[in-house]
Amino acid sequence: MEFIAETRRSRRARTDCAVVGLHEGGKLPPAATVLDRALGGRLARIVAQGDFAGRAGETLLLPDLGRGPAARVLLVGLGASRSWSRRAFRRALATAAQAVLRSGSRDALLLLGSEAVPELDAYYRARYVAEAFGAARYQIPDLKTARRPPAPRLARVRLECADRASQAAARRGLAHGAGIAAGTALTRDLANLPANVCTPTYLGGAAKRLAREHRAIRTRVLGEPELRRLGMGSFLSVTRGTDEPARLIVVEYRGGRTGAAPVALVGKGVTFDSGGISLKDPPGMDEMKFDMTGAAAVLGTIKALALIGAPVNVVGIVPACENMPSGRATKPGDIVRSMSGQTIEVLNTDAEGRLILCDALTYSRRFRPAAVIDIATLTGACVIALGQHLSAVMSNDDGLAAELLAAGKRAADGCWRMPLGEEYQEQLKSNFADFANVGGREGGAVTAACFLWKFVDGLKWAHLDIAGTAYLSGAQKGSTGRPVPLLVDYLLSPG
Ligand code: BES
Ligand code: MN
Ligand code: ZN
Repeated sequence: MEFIAETRRSRRARTDCAVVGLHEGGKLPPAATVLDRALGGRLARIVAQGDFAGRAGETLLLPDLGRGPAARVLLVGLGASRSWSRRAFRRALATAAQAVLRSGSRDALLLLGSEAVPELDAYYRARYVAEAFGAARYQIPDLKTARRPPAPRLARVRLECADRASQAAARRGLAHGAGIAAGTALTRDLANLPANVCTPTYLGGAAKRLAREHRAIRTRVLGEPELRRLGMGSFLSVTRGTDEPARLIVVEYRGGRTGAAPVALVGKGVTFDSGGISLKDPPGMDEMKFDMTGAAAVLGTIKALALIGAPVNVVGIVPACENMPSGRATKPGDIVRSMSGQTIEVLNTDAEGRLILCDALTYSRRFRPAAVIDIATLTGACVIALGQHLSAVMSNDDGLAAELLAAGKRAADGCWRMPLGEEYQEQLKSNFADFANVGGREGGAVTAACFLWKFVDGLKWAHLDIAGTAYLSGAQKGSTGRPVPLLVDYLLSPG
């Protein structure tokens, strides 16, 4: 799908579908007056007669308008002007995108008006447009035997801008939004695939494909003999129970200055988390195929950066394995030696994410990173604390934490800071090893982060717990693609 920023003067005359936003009890936006004149005042009459109220979520499609400037007009309700916000704008865009795709139009012209959302500039408005159309187009890679509905015909979305300056900003926003949408779609595809398809080997293949598609990307995939040579006893203890071979995937994106220190993104890639010997309860266990979303978000973020041509260096590090029970599996009480040399008593084999991440964090040091961010569906406790709306961020660096919080706001992919602290770290005490891998039920998201904190000595580090935000359950079950927008926004903003 192609996205174009136009001004009224540059714009081509006719469109398949003009999209007009209207507030509740409001008038037609100035951007739509020319169109309305060509339609003989029909839009204004529809509004005056109360046939379209402009409520949030409301749409009205006027089809078959003949030879005029638009073959169709889609009216989209924006809700009350006084509750107009970033969130309302994004919801209206999602509604509009779905309706445009349903209409079968080949091209759409957005006359959203310059209804200013106070916090949004032309760049973000345009970026959200591209993200919304990308998301509306997304289809789960399914294995249903019924024939798929044909791909939507929409090939071009044009956004009308007020002037040249906003056109230039919108052009950037649309390009970045399209990149984010493509990266998010990759993340969602990988996460939505079942664990019998999306194995550690499959993830390695997806990372290699990225390197084939983009010149700025290089991928290396390490196997178990190399992991043993590196001394990753903690990572290897998780994969012991499965027959599926583990992988350490290293993806480098070089878009910045040569020699500039990279940001390291470390993603949890547990392609299925049964809990291991500390087996999980059956209800909802299928959702543990999503336990590699951190890994998928690393690959999706790097794909987005490459499409955008972002001027940064990033190294993605993905420890990928399954967590399964078997006669060879790690048992509660087993003690393992991490790559850092620290020993860990594995009291609960279901706290496996931290066991693979700690060795990946140690490995990240060889890239001398400017900052390290790990991304993981790490704890159920995080879901209890923050629900499905915000990811948790824990960091040993106030500046980095603040940057991630701000990026999350701008990207509408929010996070909330939670603490680290020695008092929490003490919950990890062990009589038999340097520390244990669990610290009890209380403060479970924080003690998990505190475990990782023991491996980032001297690094500028943040941890994103995305257990609540990575996927939806119930009727809407599926990957959200979060936190790709947040990570891309952070990496695009000058430090
Ligand atoms: N992958 C899970 C965390 C999780 C739970 C993600 C629910 C998404 C939804 C993780 O490996 C896990 O099992 N964590 C345990 C830790 C506990 C044993 C200390 C948990 O949260 O129960
Ligand atoms: Mn687990
Ligand atoms: Zn897990």
